[in-house]
Amino acid sequence: MKIAVLPGDGIGSEIMAQALRVLDRLGLPIERQEAPVGGAGYDAAGDPLPEATLALAREADAILFGAVGGWKYDTLPRAKRPEQAILGLRKHLGLFANLRPAQVYEELAGASALKPEVVAGLDILILRELTGDIYFGQPRGIQTIADGQREGFDTMRYTESEIRRIAHTGFQAAMKRGRKLCSVDKANVLETSQLWRDVVIEVAREYPQVELSHMYVDNCAMQLVRAPKQFDVIVTGNMFGDILSDEASMLTGSIGMLPSASLDANNKGLYEPIHGSAPDIAGKDIANPLATILSAAMMLRYSLDQAAAADRIEAAVKTVLKQGYRTADIHEAGAKKVGTREMGDAVVAAL
Ligand code: IPM
Ligand code: MG
Repeated sequence: MKIAVLPGDGIGSEIMAQALRVLDRLGLPIERQEAPVGGAGYDAAGDPLPEATLALAREADAILFGAVGGWKYDTLPRAKRPEQAILGLRKHLGLFANLRPAQVYEELAGASALKPEVVAGLDILILRELTGDIYFGQPRGIQTIADGQREGFDTMRYTESEIRRIAHTGFQAAMKRGRKLCSVDKANVLETSQLWRDVVIEVAREYPQVELSHMYVDNCAMQLVRAPKQFDVIVTGNMFGDILSDEASMLTGSIGMLPSASLDANNKGLYEPIHGSAPDIAGKDIANPLATILSAAMMLRYSLDQAAAADRIEAAVKTVLKQGYRTADIHEAGAKKVGTREMGDAVVAAL
């Protein structure tokens, strides 16, 4: 098994170091190679996604990714900004299916901003389409129009094959879980969403065992905080999924807990925490490494066919939470407050 390790920027290298220690502890024959990406890629090679990094990602069986972004890169032209690295990897590698599970650990039900009874036992999966939509649609730009003022524009577009493929992933995921799929769109306003809904309904005929519902994205944003346990799998487009998955993360207590997988048609994948590079806390040894550690578990499960090892990591994370270890983002009175490295120590010890 060969993995590409792309720590990226900000807290990226700190959280990645802990995930690698956890992987090492499993003693699996995993060969790994590291490369710079994001701001680090720009610093090393003048490009957020250096050619060598992309080549490494292409040839690996899976990619473990930290986070990208930092203030010092915010004023670069868009093509050189760190975010282009992750967008480029998704597009170049055809990673169209983004799995963002939001699970509330028993011990953390009190850490959510919502009442414990609203979130206790929550286990939902947000499935976000990742290589289409307004993120990649052409044309886009900023132009000067007739009256001399500037106008910004982006294009939301989806082909039916793109919708069909993510819909299949959604139904298949639902089959393995609670057999409920909620497709989220804005079909009351957008043509793209009307096609999305029509195609999802067509695909549904192949999955009679799955209960399909449709919801407008604004209502879904509200329902996620009102009664999140009504959902099993949510399937949605790129931009809606970006927003809803950040929202869903807070149901679990902290965005520092949520892993993700971005898969291609053959289950090759890129694995990353859903949080960002958090430049404000970089280098302080306080970031929560659990989302990255759980991303490594997803990598073992989905791309490397090592389900037993993935189970072991997930069980170890539950153990450390039970033992009361908490990084600052999930800290509560009476818990053992630990830093990034100590949290890694605790997971390794639990393994
Ligand atoms: C995410 C992030 C990215 C996105 C950014 C960093 C480009 O917010 O993975 O959710 O918008 O997809
Ligand atoms: Mg996001």
